[in-house]
Amino acid sequence: MKHTITLIPGDGIGPEVSAAVVRIIAATGVDIQWETHYAGAQALEKFGNTLPEDLLESIKRNKIALKGPITTPVGKGFTSVNVGLRKTLDLYANLRPVRALPNVPCRYPELDLVVVRENTEDLYSGIEHVVVPGVVESIKVITEKASTRIARYAFEYARRESRKKVTAIHKANIMKLSDGLFLDCFRNVSKDYPEIEADDKIVENACMQLVMRPEQFDIMLLENLYGDIVSDLCAGLIGGLGLVPGANIGELGAIFEAVHGSAPDIAGQGIANPTALLQSSILMLRHMGERDAAQKIELAMLRVFEEGNVRTRDIGGKAHTDEFASAIIAAFQ
Ligand code: NAI
Repeated sequence: MKHTITLIPGDGIGPEVSAAVVRIIAATGVDIQWETHYAGAQALEKFGNTLPEDLLESIKRNKIALKGPITTPVGKGFTSVNVGLRKTLDLYANLRPVRALPNVPCRYPELDLVVVRENTEDLYSGIEHVVVPGVVESIKVITEKASTRIARYAFEYARRESRKKVTAIHKANIMKLSDGLFLDCFRNVSKDYPEIEADDKIVENACMQLVMRPEQFDIMLLENLYGDIVSDLCAGLIGGLGLVPGANIGELGAIFEAVHGSAPDIAGQGIANPTALLQSSILMLRHMGERDAAQKIELAMLRVFEEGNVRTRDIGGKAHTDEFASAIIAAFQ
């Protein structure tokens, strides 16, 4: 079957890791026509808009996109393209499976948990204003609708993937109304899934528990901001940002992307680890029904990690991005 997929290479290390992943996918024989689009600073320069209408139309038409990281200027400049894409397309569920890989130096080689992050509201609603000079307000928006649908997504995912527990992470002791609403929605939804354990933790305790005893978590359900922070923490537990995949899923489509950013400190050197985007592409292929190709890539990737001869620098090796991609293709069976 022929697929058409929107490809957003991104900037920084984005073009390097996405080229490697596109090459690996092509080697599986899956028939994909890529529609390449620019976003962020590149699109601003070419088209005067960070999120061109053509790009949004392409994703709406194809319903699937693979995306490299996009730089967001800090404290000034344009607003986040990543947040913009998720909000415009209502990709409300951010899924980040965190699983240790063989032979990667890390604190928790057995770790296998999933972060489910609400993707559309919270402090990321972007409602900020100056009240009077020297005083600003950022508004945290939490709704019953979004909290209920993300909780349902987490429990449905748990049921589908035979996971045993969903833990809601919150700060409802302080933000009694907003986080309180998120927690109430979680508890209401949990009643429909009696076979799945439901519990909750306050966010700072959850962070400490993650560092000390992460095996107690199975699926973690978080609002947008806590989810952003905690998922990077989880990446650190299994060896770093270069490894963890992500998917942004909604009714209109899905964008698959790595958890990491554009890594300006190593961009252009050909040394970035493409594993995170590769693992995102495995999620994508499964989502498209291309299970054989997904399995082929996953087994080859695990074999390369098990052999341990070809690794990128972030995990203690010397291999360049391209060498790693070639090793995966050579390990196909
Ligand atoms: P970052 O994730 O780009 O980098 C953090 C550290 O991890 C750096 O030392 C980097 O070299 C390393 N790293 C990240 N990915 C790697 C990879 N694949 N291989 C090897 N090392 C890797 O985070 P940072 O520096 O905070 O953000 C840089 C830019 O990326 C910012 O503009 C930020 O807004 C943007 N960003 C974009 C995201 C997206 O497009 N989804 C997600 C996160 C950040």
